[in-house]
Amino acid sequence: MELMVLTTLLLLLILVPIFYLFNHKKYNGQLPPGSLGLPVIGQSLGLLRALKADKVEKWFQERITNHGHVWKASLFGYPTVVLHGPAANKFVYTCDGNLLANSQPPSLTRIVGCKNLMELSANDHKRVRAALVSFLKLEVLKQYVAKVDVEIQHHLQSHWHGKHEVQVQPLMKTLTFNIICSLLFGIERGPQREKLLPLFHAMIEGVLSVPINLPFSKYKRAIIARKKLVPMIIHLIQKKKEALMEQNQGDIPHKDLITSLLSIRHDDSSTMTSEEEIIDNIIVVMIAGYDTTSVLLTFFVRLLASNKSIYSTIVQEQQEISNSKAPEEALTWEDLTKMKYTWRVATELTRINPPVALSFRRAKQDIEYGGFIIPKGWQVMISMSMTHMDESIFQNPTMFDPTRFEKHAPLPPPFSYMAFGGGPRMCPGFELAKMETLVMIHRLVTTFTWELLKKDESFKRVPMPEFDQGLLVRVKPLKLRNQGVL
Ligand code: HEM
Repeated sequence: MELMVLTTLLLLLILVPIFYLFNHKKYNGQLPPGSLGLPVIGQSLGLLRALKADKVEKWFQERITNHGHVWKASLFGYPTVVLHGPAANKFVYTCDGNLLANSQPPSLTRIVGCKNLMELSANDHKRVRAALVSFLKLEVLKQYVAKVDVEIQHHLQSHWHGKHEVQVQPLMKTLTFNIICSLLFGIERGPQREKLLPLFHAMIEGVLSVPINLPFSKYKRAIIARKKLVPMIIHLIQKKKEALMEQNQGDIPHKDLITSLLSIRHDDSSTMTSEEEIIDNIIVVMIAGYDTTSVLLTFFVRLLASNKSIYSTIVQEQQEISNSKAPEEALTWEDLTKMKYTWRVATELTRINPPVALSFRRAKQDIEYGGFIIPKGWQVMISMSMTHMDESIFQNPTMFDPTRFEKHAPLPPPFSYMAFGGGPRMCPGFELAKMETLVMIHRLVTTFTWELLKKDESFKRVPMPEFDQGLLVRVKPLKLRNQGVL
């Protein structure tokens, strides 16, 4: 085994410089400035360090100062062209999928599956995405506000009430997992959910780990978890197929995401999404929706504990909604539309701390951009963190200012706010993330007060932001008028 690893490393050390030299010769002066650095490693360690310290903007700024808005580097095993600015973001997000594809490392595809939305391109991407969006779109999700509310109140009852101290981030992850299970997969509380949780945990840890396929590595554990999970998902799909056959299909068009995917059919009544596509996209939705919304909610809790003025404006907005309802009445879509200030604060939070900091694509052909060539096979990278901290786009970018997103505030140029991506691959979970955030913040501020136990508890991006102690807070229940439904 050791000999194999050594031989592979030696081969890489010989072949990669030859490949780089060949590219330099072939594109003679047309490649962007910058250095590809050491073979294989390149500048990956520097970027990983910057991510960990949440200093991605600094890493970018140094290179922008040296090379301008387009430069080359070697990142995560690939020669990469890094781009900066709204025009570049627009180019990357709206570029034809035959030129710039959304391709992930094979190690990740092994866990998430090769039919997952992020891996698909062109018509397959359009078809599967349309099927997912048919459930995740606002008109459908609107019906489920009360269901999300019940899930959130149950969560608060089980994990927050009766506690003096809680670790916010792990709890927010549990919450987003439970909402996705209930709303998207129709798996209600009980043993089936309990069985799924450790498997998803193992998969997510594997997705975020170094892909070394050795016994006991996180990566290996994730592959084993996928193997155990797939038969469980197949069983779930089978049950939903049977339920669909038993009932009049017209009665349950949007029961949950899986039922919805099974119900969308071609004229010859065959399903539009294959079983393999459903499996891989259940996994991708779970991974994409779990760490992201929980990160936003964790930052929200931290902000409300440290910024009195924002806290009182939010409490006022939420209390007015609470006062307009009967005790125990669940929240409705109309209530969420009144939470305008709360959502502006959430948007500013995702500007300052975007849960996803970087976007990657792969060139399918040689592409000309900004007077340079991006060679076929190279990776292309843009950064939300850098764009959001660019003072030519957002004035005083480090200042927390939700008024930036007021209705009449001057609009930043398109593709400047990119926490949810953009173009045909823009996050399809946006409306769900918004709903989860608004309902949770409503229930939190009308039920508890809290304070940070470690005032300056820091976080690392690994690559998602992770608080060192999960964001420790001391909680106190409020005397309630509206306890809500349970
Ligand atoms: C605060 C919460 C969230 C944030 C900040 C976020 C962010 C993003 C971003 C930046 C992208 C685009 C990446 C790129 O193009 O390179 C994306 C894509 C995606 N997100 Fe989200 N997301 C969030 C919540 C969710 C939720 C709740 C779901 C699931 C219901 C979800 C499912 C997806 C999927 C499936 C894609 C891939 C779309 C495609 O390739 O067509 N996300 N998300």
